[in-house]
This record gives sequence, C-alpha cells and structure tokens, in this order.
Amino acid sequence: MPTPIDLKVGWIGTGRMGFTMARRLARAGGKLTVWNRTRAKAEPLTQDGARIADSLADLGGCDVAFCMLSTWDDVKHVIAGPDGLLSQRIPMPRTVIECSSISVQGSAELRSILAARGIELLAAPVSGNAKVVTAGKLSFVVSGPRAAYDRARPLFESIGKSSTWVGEGELARTVKICHNVFLGVVAQSLVEVTALAQKAGVPRHAFLDFLNQSVMGSMFTRYKTPALVNLDFKVTFTPELLRKDMDLGLELARNLGVPMPTAALAREQIQSLIGNGFTEQDFATLLLLEGRAAGLALEPEQVQVDDGLS
Ligand SMILES: NC(=O)c1ccc[n+]([C@@H]2O[C@H](COP(=O)([O-])OP(=O)(O)OC[C@H]3O[C@@H](n4cnc5c(N)ncnc54)[C@H](OP(=O)(O)O)[C@@H]3O)[C@@H](O)[C@H]2O)c1
Repeated sequence: MPTPIDLKVGWIGTGRMGFTMARRLARAGGKLTVWNRTRAKAEPLTQDGARIADSLADLGGCDVAFCMLSTWDDVKHVIAGPDGLLSQRIPMPRTVIECSSISVQGSAELRSILAARGIELLAAPVSGNAKVVTAGKLSFVVSGPRAAYDRARPLFESIGKSSTWVGEGELARTVKICHNVFLGVVAQSLVEVTALAQKAGVPRHAFLDFLNQSVMGSMFTRYKTPALVNLDFKVTFTPELLRKDMDLGLELARNLGVPMPTAALAREQIQSLIGNGFTEQDFATLLLLEGRAAGLALEPEQVQVDDGLS
C-alpha cells in the first residue's frame, strides 16, 4: 500500500464545492485526475497540476476516488449508471470517498453496490461553503472502515482543517443531515432578528458586528454578514439544496420518532423562498423574504464588513 502522499486520487465532480476542494488537494501536492460532466469547469485545475479526464475511464488505476456531486440520484448515476465508473473496464479504486450531502439510505445502497465490487466506502460529507474551503477551514465528518479512514486522513487534512471519524456505516450522513438542519434553522433565525433590529432602527452592519463578537457569533454568522449587510446574494448554497437537506432531516426524524418543530417551520420558509423564485441566488435571500413580510425596505448598506475567513 503506498504511503498517503503517494496515493493516486481520482476526483469526480467540480461544481462549487468539488472544484475548490480538488484545488486544495492539488495545491498540497496530491496526484489528481479530475472528471466533471462539464469538462470546461474542471480545466482551470490544470494550473494546479491536476490532470483532466476525458471520461471516467481515465480514473483507472487510482487508489482513491473522491465524489462530490449534487444528489443521491446523481451519485448513483455517475458511479453505478450505464456509463458510470463501475461500468468502465479499468482497475477500480480501493476506496471511494463520497462527500455529497446524501441520505442515509442512498449511502447504504452505495456501500453495498461498491462492496459487491470489493470497493470500500468512506461517507465523508463536509461543513463549509466554497469560501470556507479556500480559507482552509472545511470540516469533514467521516464514517466507514476505520483503517480506510486512517489511510485517507492526510487527504482530508490537506483539503480542510479537520476530519472527525464518527463510526462505521452511514453515521456520518446522519451527522451531516443534523448539521444542515441546524444551518437552515439558524439561517432563518438570523434573518428574523436582523430584520427586527433594522425595523427598530439598528443598521444591519452594527447589529451583526455586535452579534459576531458576542457568545452567539460563529464562523457561519461571520461569513454570512457581508451578504446580509450588502445584499450580495451570489450563490454559495442554493435554496433547493438546503431544502433537500431539511427534507432528509425531517424524514430521518419521522423514521426515528423525533419531533423537530423548529426545523419543520424553517423548512416551510425555505420552500416559500423557492416558490417566490429565489432559486438562482444564495439561501441568505431568506432575508429578502423576511424583509418583505416585515414591510421593510432593504437596501445594500455599502459598508465593508469582515467575513472572518481571511
Ligand atoms: N455549496 C455549499 O455550500 C455546500 C456545502 C456543503 C455541502 N454541500 C453539498 O455538496 C454537494 C455539491 O454541492 P455544490 O454546491 O458544489 O453543487 P454544484 O455547484 O451544483 O455542483 C454539482 C456538481 O455535480 C455535478 N452533477 C450534478 N448532477 C450530475 C449528473 N447527473 N451527472 C454528472 N454530474 C453531475 C455537476 O456537474 P456539472 O458541472 O456538469 O453541472 C457539478 O460538478 C451537494 O450535495 C451539496 O448539498 C454544498
């Protein structure tokens, strides 16, 4: 078995997250072959030393394959579909590291599909958006065979700041789903109190500056502050992807008999965001919806604020 630094890595998916994660790994000296459905999006990674694959067959001979796509359907299609990775006549990776936010059931199905081909799976979803990745602050939560995790750990740590192994099987999916339910609830609560403070006469930048310095401030409240102050809603995470995660959380909660009243309300607000057409912008547009409901005229404050990431 090669030492981790010698691992040959295949990378599947260079969307917002996958691109920045692959770039971190390539810049750390990883030997990367990258495949993306839309090849052009992967091409800038050549500047970081990555090789761009023309087809999934070019991932033959990799020790490890990372996967960062949108939904379970997409992952299944790319890994196990008619033209997917497993259909290629190539030496398969020993380990697949699947980082998309997918359901526990999807992850378990993937594990059994891969196991049938002798491939082990690390479920390794992440916390943080692309800016967080670039700042080196991404966190992985990982489950699956402990020995595979130990081998892959240097890869996780060259992409992000931490990786936490939480056990066997699909436990990491549950942790990630809980995390994103919390994200949806916190985001909604954050825009509510921001709108309340503004309607009472407090500029958003002043309110959020205090909040960020207080015991309630977090990496999340800090890096969302520029968007909430200056109404720059360039997408980091779409409302539709967040709704997917709220739905995964609520489904899990129903299956396990856990009441989630706050999460259920936040889910409906995210649905309203989508129904009101905010599909192409960031989920922080929850502020615009809240502003409308509060009869509040929202304008960019044009104040330079720190995102806490630089
Ligand atoms: N954005 C965030 O802040 C964030 C944070 C943590 C976790 N996540 C999770 O990370 C995953 C990726 O999110 P993202 O924001 O990077 O999404 P994204 O920018 O929309 O990227 C999606 C990627 O999946 C590929 N893809 C989608 N469907 C495909 C299919 N059927 N066949 C082949 N390729 C397909 C896309 O290829 P093309 O380039 O060809 O479209 C692209 O590379 C999601 O599960 C999301 O929930 C996101």
